[in-house]
Amino acid sequence: MPMIVLTTLARVEVTTGTRALVTGASSGIGRALAQKLAQRGARVGLAARSVDQLESLAAELPGGPHLVLPCDVAVRADVETAVARFVAQTGGGIELVVANAGIAHYGPFRELAPELVERMTQVNWLGTVWTVRAALEPMVAAGRGHVVIVSSGAAQRSFPDAAVYGATKAAQRAFGEALRHELDGTGVSLTVAYPGEIATSLHDHEKATMPVWYHGDARASPPDELADAILDAVARDRRAVAYPRVVGLLGVAHGISPRLADTVLRRLRGPSAAPRRD
Ligand SMILES: NC(=O)c1ccc[n+]([C@@H]2O[C@H](COP(=O)([O-])OP(=O)(O)OC[C@H]3O[C@@H](n4cnc5c(N)ncnc54)[C@H](OP(=O)(O)O)[C@@H]3O)[C@@H](O)[C@H]2O)c1
Repeated sequence: MPMIVLTTLARVEVTTGTRALVTGASSGIGRALAQKLAQRGARVGLAARSVDQLESLAAELPGGPHLVLPCDVAVRADVETAVARFVAQTGGGIELVVANAGIAHYGPFRELAPELVERMTQVNWLGTVWTVRAALEPMVAAGRGHVVIVSSGAAQRSFPDAAVYGATKAAQRAFGEALRHELDGTGVSLTVAYPGEIATSLHDHEKATMPVWYHGDARASPPDELADAILDAVARDRRAVAYPRVVGLLGVAHGISPRLADTVLRRLRGPSAAPRRD
């Protein structure tokens, strides 16, 4: 006879009074998420290093009061302090945390400075771990909450000249996939977001040296559309959200056969996206 297993369903619908902390809120995707959250009535914790940008964002967001949380996500103590401050100042709770802060350094692996390898690892991967780790305890104690990890389409299928960046994003994916199951029954859930090319400042420092396969600017999707897709995925408690949809399709193709994904990529992005034929 089939056994029916009842689990605690966790749904966080962002509404008036929802307490949400976003890392990397000073620009791009994090900023768009903070705006969408505030528009829906959330009280938002804005974490990043650029305090001036966070303060002007806090001043222009509706509702609030919103909290500026200066922090380098690569520094565990910084993240723990930021989350603790947010929880203390919002009455002892947090319903949503978005581990979004990230950096990118593209280029051939053999030419990538080891310091940049370390920095991407510390910010993208460990920064995610410290953020989620700090926010989980108050959520689990309350029996309710939702974690969002902003990974990348590069975690579904990584690209040449972005080997280390892709590896940090794949680490986020593996972490999130396991943790979502681990949290079963706690009332806390988790969604991993897989953005494609989004129009932000992520690559501003390396525009002149981006790989040929990168389309970027003209064809990049607006961050506010991605933010809507992420909040919709949270409300539906989806394990993953890929945006735009082609990112998810590429992930499916790669899952079936990396060689099939090579062919798709060569058609979509030219030979530099998958130069090796075997
Ligand atoms: N744009 C894309 O095409 C794309 C595609 C896939 C995935 N993503 C991912 O989306 C996330 C957000 O990137 P974005 O595109 O919005 O880029 P962005 O406009 O450059 O924003 C990056 C954010 O991360 C923050 N940040 C960077 N290093 C930090 C650190 N050490 N501590 C705290 N905050 C830090 C930045 O703030 P401060 O500099 O003020 O600290 C900024 O707010 C990243 O994880 C990125 O990998 C982006």
